[in-house]
Amino acid sequence: MKKSMPDNQEQTGETVLNRRTVLQGMIGIGAFLSGAYLKFGLDNATSTPFSHSKTSLLNFKPIPASSADKIIVPEGYRAETLISWGQPLFADAPDFDESGKSGVDEQVMQFGDNNDGMSLFPIDENRAVMAVNNEYTNYGYLFDHDGKHITADNIAKAQAAVGVSIFEIVRDGDSWRLDKNGQLNRRITATTRMQITGPATGHPLMQTKNDPSGKWVFGTYSNCSNGQTPWGTYLTCEENFNMSFGSKHKHKSSAAEKRYELKSGKSKSQWEQHDERFDIVETPNEANRFGWIVEIDPFDPKSIPVKRTALGRFSHENAAFTLNKDGHAVVYMGDDSKGEHLYRFVSKHKYDAGNDEHNRQLLEDGTLYVARFNGEHTDLKGKGEWIELTHGKNGLTAENGFADQAEVLIHARLAATAVGATTMDRPEWVAVHPDNKSVYCTLTNNTKRGKVIGQSPNAANPRINNIYGQIIRWQPKSDDHTNDEFEWDLYVLAGNPTVHSGARAGSANINQDNMFNSPDGLGFDAAGRLWILTDGKDSNTGDYAGMGNNQMLCGDPNTGEIKRFMTGPREAEVTGLCFSEDNKTMFVGIQHPGSGQKTADGRFASNFPQGGTSKPRSSVMMIYREDGKSFSS
Ligand code: FEO
Ligand code: CA
Ligand code: CA
Repeated sequence: MKKSMPDNQEQTGETVLNRRTVLQGMIGIGAFLSGAYLKFGLDNATSTPFSHSKTSLLNFKPIPASSADKIIVPEGYRAETLISWGQPLFADAPDFDESGKSGVDEQVMQFGDNNDGMSLFPIDENRAVMAVNNEYTNYGYLFDHDGKHITADNIAKAQAAVGVSIFEIVRDGDSWRLDKNGQLNRRITATTRMQITGPATGHPLMQTKNDPSGKWVFGTYSNCSNGQTPWGTYLTCEENFNMSFGSKHKHKSSAAEKRYELKSGKSKSQWEQHDERFDIVETPNEANRFGWIVEIDPFDPKSIPVKRTALGRFSHENAAFTLNKDGHAVVYMGDDSKGEHLYRFVSKHKYDAGNDEHNRQLLEDGTLYVARFNGEHTDLKGKGEWIELTHGKNGLTAENGFADQAEVLIHARLAATAVGATTMDRPEWVAVHPDNKSVYCTLTNNTKRGKVIGQSPNAANPRINNIYGQIIRWQPKSDDHTNDEFEWDLYVLAGNPTVHSGARAGSANINQDNMFNSPDGLGFDAAGRLWILTDGKDSNTGDYAGMGNNQMLCGDPNTGEIKRFMTGPREAEVTGLCFSEDNKTMFVGIQHPGSGQKTADGRFASNFPQGGTSKPRSSVMMIYREDGKSFSS
């Protein structure tokens, strides 16, 4: 999801730093970054724990930046649409309604809006079930009006346009197609009944007048990125849930509500205007029942989704699952908000191959940690540690405001601050390298860095007013993901060397041919290529001149090389990534083409994917090689 972006775009990092006397106490003296310093960072990379082979993994001819309203891929590759918002998911579902007059009954039978993270679960070599997040919806396109005068029916339709879409796909020549008759096809929305499990279940803070048990909740929404377990379940991540909560009443937010950006007034999606469940005064604890990781069984369309409270409550961007070498399930998770944190969950019990009844309880019980990145400000690398968020440890006691473990998890952000976690530049996706030895995370941007108390630059987040973002990576000690120590470095500092020198030019692996801003989606293919998906400014002017539309790049983790692989349509974010089991098809998402906007003369800001004057529709794309070979060859 596109969040509010640079609020001070004209200032360079250096300009802000010249205001140091004003900001003294907020910005460290060592915050100034020079070009020489940046070069030092990458040239010095051989002394990091990460390998630096000279053989490139990047086997395609890169493409230039583009501002065209279409998908462009390199020579020898082809892109096709698999599914678009509003497409019928069932044989008896209605077709997409371009007029926007259709309502909840139609939308709930169709592919949801604004697709984000997704996973593919093979059934056999010609059939698979796909689970796709539908993060939010654009009122400017969803209705037959501009979205300014929302009715209760409108809210019901909006709640049916989000959540998760699950559907079967079948092989069709070189590509795949939706099977509307698939037995596993299902929509999960903001009103689907689900269970709350784990340490926060039944806690007073989870109880509402409609659910005094604190064990059941209707719905999931703001489903951003995702995860996939080896026992065949899908993890969907509740991110910007606060944007649907508000109040018609006057209300002074508590400290916890402030930290979770919950306040009275009209919310962005206005659900509280017609649904008192989302009014923080009418239903004060409902917001505590969102912001979790939800586990879904895509192979059973009647299964009840489960909110796993052991993994903490925050703006969950993603859930990067890995099985540690000793069998513990480990999940790395980002909290995408300015100055928030990076988390790790380690299961109490170990994976038991073939015993899925046992494995399906692994996310029920375990330990949550938050990351601290140490290091000298000018090194772009250092050591780090995971700090345990367990009641009674590290100061997380009743005297300090945490009555029990449930409160530590429900208010994980407050707990993270209490134990001294590192404030990050909006952690988005996390990806574990297929060799299971290193982990990468996109830090998309942070325009508050260096401007507010508590968000001084630090070694891992070194640039003030960070408009471009960076990718950090770490290697757990002894290749053990349960070890509390790691070493880290920055794989790339995005920047614009054609406009800036110094910190904003980016690291040495950024040049005029591969510039981008705001890395967000992230994933590896089986060969170990790092795919980087962006969600940033696409103005192609000023600080962003030469970067074009949002895009997908491919990085070589060993050489540091980065090349542009795909450019997206206008006003779209590229997000969501998975591969077919044979690695011949890459599935990649295009979210919010047109950004819900119209031009001054009333045309849609994008007409992707159908072209002409059609309404823009978020879509899942398929990319494959014209020579029929796999991505990993
Ligand atoms: Fe849904 Fe932080 O992106
Ligand atoms: Ca994202
Ligand atoms: Ca983003």
